[in-house]
Amino acid sequence: MSFRPPKGTDDIGAPESHVWRDVLREWETWADRFGYPLVMTPIFEATELFERGVGDDTEVVTKQMYTFTDRGGRSVTLRPEGTAGVVRAFLDSGATGAWKGAYSGPMFRYERPQAGRRRQFWQVGVEYLDVKGPAADAEVIELGFRFLTGVEVPGLEVVVNSLGDEVCRPGYVTILRNFLEENRDRLCDDSVSLIGVNPLRVLDCKICAPVLNDAPAMKDHLCEPCAAHYDEVMTALKRLEIPYREDRRLVRGLDYYTRTAFEYLATDLEAAQNAVGGGGRYDGLAEAIGGRRAPGVGFALGVDRIILASVLEPDPQVDVYLVSETGPGDALVAASTLRSRGLRVDLDTEGRSVKAQFRTAGRSQARALVVLPTEGGDVDVRIDEERAQMPLQDVAAWLESRLP
Ligand code: HAM
Repeated sequence: MSFRPPKGTDDIGAPESHVWRDVLREWETWADRFGYPLVMTPIFEATELFERGVGDDTEVVTKQMYTFTDRGGRSVTLRPEGTAGVVRAFLDSGATGAWKGAYSGPMFRYERPQAGRRRQFWQVGVEYLDVKGPAADAEVIELGFRFLTGVEVPGLEVVVNSLGDEVCRPGYVTILRNFLEENRDRLCDDSVSLIGVNPLRVLDCKICAPVLNDAPAMKDHLCEPCAAHYDEVMTALKRLEIPYREDRRLVRGLDYYTRTAFEYLATDLEAAQNAVGGGGRYDGLAEAIGGRRAPGVGFALGVDRIILASVLEPDPQVDVYLVSETGPGDALVAASTLRSRGLRVDLDTEGRSVKAQFRTAGRSQARALVVLPTEGGDVDVRIDEERAQMPLQDVAAWLESRLP
């Protein structure tokens, strides 16, 4: 067979998918604990939604979108991120007042593929809408931090900054642009080409870092309300005991951010893909896509990168592997009994030899083995070195106290 997954996409099966399953389960647990119900939006949207939401000049929109014309002549785009679609769905629903949504699913960006940088990748994220207070920002940041801690991402760092708003940012951008113009000769070509279009993005440039260390910082030019908001977010993070670091040069690749911006870094990964997630406040996004003013804050985390970084030991697939000497018919009925009591059970349906069944059981990493008797009577249950005989009906209760 000559077909392979398209460049920058992956097939993910066991055993790797065990980790995915555990990470996505942990995500659901934390989203639930913070009161975020699931929201599901289409995987493709009108192209204009991303142009207006994410921003015409961003790399995501100019270089990375999977855009095509459908059979009805409409320009549609595979979603490169989830925020614009969720905000559209929120506006469309007519909801008013604080509104929460959590999502999990594939996103698409035409990038040069490498580890942790895929053309189809998976994000989990939340959006918290129609809220303007700094406590909302802090709660959102906390959720991401608790989840990433739960999935055991080593070297986790939370980095925060404020990007100001429509009142104070324009003045700062002028000051920054002047600084960049004065230092034009010391900047790389990419940075020079950004001075006119989007000088904030220059702050992100790793090559120009030595020059940018002296660049004026947004933080020093915030208007009074933005400065107060930022201070309150940081105070809340301290009270929640979330370790964070301020980075005066943190900017984000998408245009919709105002005030708080943050990233979660897995510092054990290569710098090129060590941002396991990012987010911030986007008070103007709803209006930018044609809706009413609805300030909001959210984040998205890249599950592909989380999996690269995580040291989580996956939970095995099954609790019990059933071994039968009398063929799959009996095993199937016994499995059904155990499953009805909540155990996860696997078995051989092909009538293979007992030896072959033991081999498969070993590979399955089942926590326990249940060997069916040749003629009625008790089954044989084994966990590691421990063995016991009992009626099939008693197996679930017996295992319950022994399986972690
Ligand atoms: P973003 O920073 O573009 O933000 O993406 C968030 C995360 O998605 C990144 O930190 C990274 O882990 C992962 N990611 C992005 N591109 C790729 C890729 N090509 N391959 C693998 N992983 C990738 C957003 O998408 C915003 N919508 C976040 C947000 C939500 N802001 C407010 N609400």
